[in-house]
Amino acid sequence: MPEPALPPSLKPPALKTLIVDDEENVLRAIKRLFMDEETEVLTAASGAAGLEILKANEIALIISDQRMPGMNGSEFLKRARQIAPDAIRIILTGYADITAAVEAINKGGAYRYLEKPWEDSELLMVARDALDRYRLLGENRRLTELTKKQNEQLRRWSDELQMDVQRQTIELSKRNEELTGLNTRLNRKIGEFIAAFSNLGDLRGGPAHAHSEGVAAAARDMGARLGLDKQALETVVLAARLHDIGKVGMPDVIAIKAPEDLNEDEREQYEKHPVRGQSAIGMIEEFREMGALIRHHHENFDGSGFPDGLRGRQIPLGARIIACADLLDRSLKNGLDADEIHEEIKKRAGSVLDPELAPLMRQSAEQLNGPSDGSDSPETALSLKDVRPGRRLSRDFRTGTGVLLLTKGTVLTAEYIEMLKRCAFLDPSKTSIFVWT
Ligand SMILES: [Fe+2]
Ligand SMILES: [Fe+2]
Repeated sequence: MPEPALPPSLKPPALKTLIVDDEENVLRAIKRLFMDEETEVLTAASGAAGLEILKANEIALIISDQRMPGMNGSEFLKRARQIAPDAIRIILTGYADITAAVEAINKGGAYRYLEKPWEDSELLMVARDALDRYRLLGENRRLTELTKKQNEQLRRWSDELQMDVQRQTIELSKRNEELTGLNTRLNRKIGEFIAAFSNLGDLRGGPAHAHSEGVAAAARDMGARLGLDKQALETVVLAARLHDIGKVGMPDVIAIKAPEDLNEDEREQYEKHPVRGQSAIGMIEEFREMGALIRHHHENFDGSGFPDGLRGRQIPLGARIIACADLLDRSLKNGLDADEIHEEIKKRAGSVLDPELAPLMRQSAEQLNGPSDGSDSPETALSLKDVRPGRRLSRDFRTGTGVLLLTKGTVLTAEYIEMLKRCAFLDPSKTSIFVWT
C-alpha cells in the first residue's frame, strides 16, 4: 500500500542539486530532465557563481562540467569541497578528457564522472543514487549525534545516581551510628535498672545480703573463663543478678534460713522462687532468655533439682553457671578458705553441679577470694577520686545507710566507678574504698 502523502507543511524540504556549466542549453536540458525528481535544481554558468550559491544554500548534489572558461570543473569541485564537504560531487567530461576526470576525482573528491554527451537514464540513475547516499549519510550523522547525546545523558544520570547512592550511604551510616549509640545507652540503662531491681532482694539483710551482686561477679568470672561471647555473657550476668528475685514478697524466714533448715511448708514456698522469678520478668520480651536461666538455676546435674527435674545438658549452660556461682558466693560470704571451697565443689560436682565446670569454679574461687596469700596480702584504702578501673575490692563496700553496693573481690569497671560516684552524692559512705595492692 502506498504511504499517504504528507500535507505540504509537514513535508521535509526537497534536497537541492546544483548544476554548473558554461553552456546555457546544457543547464536547461538537465533542469528539464530533473523536473519530476524530488530535488530542487539550482544552476550556475561558472565555477565562481556556483561557489556563491554553495555559500548560500545547503546543496546535496553538485553536477559540474569539466571544461569551463576561468575555473575548470576539478578546480571548482576542490573549492566546493571546502564549502560543502558533505555534498556528493559528479563531474561531466568530454570523451577525450579522462585525465581531467581522474584529477576531479583525486583533487575534488568527485563521487562519479560521466561522459558528455550523457545518457539521460544513466544521469538520472546516478543522481538518484547520489541523493539517496546524501540522505543516508545525513541520517547516519543524525543517529550518531543522537547516540552521543543519549550516552552523555546516561553518563550524567549514572553520575547523579552514584552521588545519590553515596549520599544515602553516608546518611545510613550516620543513622546506624546513632542507633548503635542509642542501643548502647539502652543496654546500660537496662543493666542499671536490673542492678537496682536486684537490690530489692538483697535489702532484706542476713545471708541474702548482696548475694545477687556476688553471684553476678562469680558468673561473670566463670563465663569469661569459659569464653562466652559478649552478648551471652551479659545475659548470664544479668540473670545471675536477678536469679533470686522470685523471693521478693516471700516471708523473711525463707530468704534468711539456709535451705536445709526450712520445714516442709517453708520448703514448698521456697521451691517456687525460680518460677516466680521467671514470671516476674517474663512480661518483658528482651528478658525471656534470662527468664529461662532464672527458672533453672536450682536444677541439679543428676536431675534431682527443681522446678522441672532437668538433668545434664538439658539444663541451659547459663543456669549451670549460675548454680556454680551461687555456691561460690555463699561459700565466700561464709568465710570459707580456698581448701574448704575446693572440698565443697568436690562434694557437689556431678550431683548438683556440672562436673565440667568444677575446674573453672576453683579458678574463680581463687580470683574472687583475693590473692593466694589471703588476708596477709596488702590492701590500700583509696578515696573515690583515686579509684581506677581494674582494681579489685579487698572488702565489701557499703553506702552511708549500710546498703551493700559492691562485694569483696569485685573488679572495678568504669560503670562501677560511675555508680560509686552517684551513691557518694545520694548516700555518702563513711569508709574508704579498700582494694588489693
Ligand atoms: Fe535461688
Ligand atoms: Fe541464690
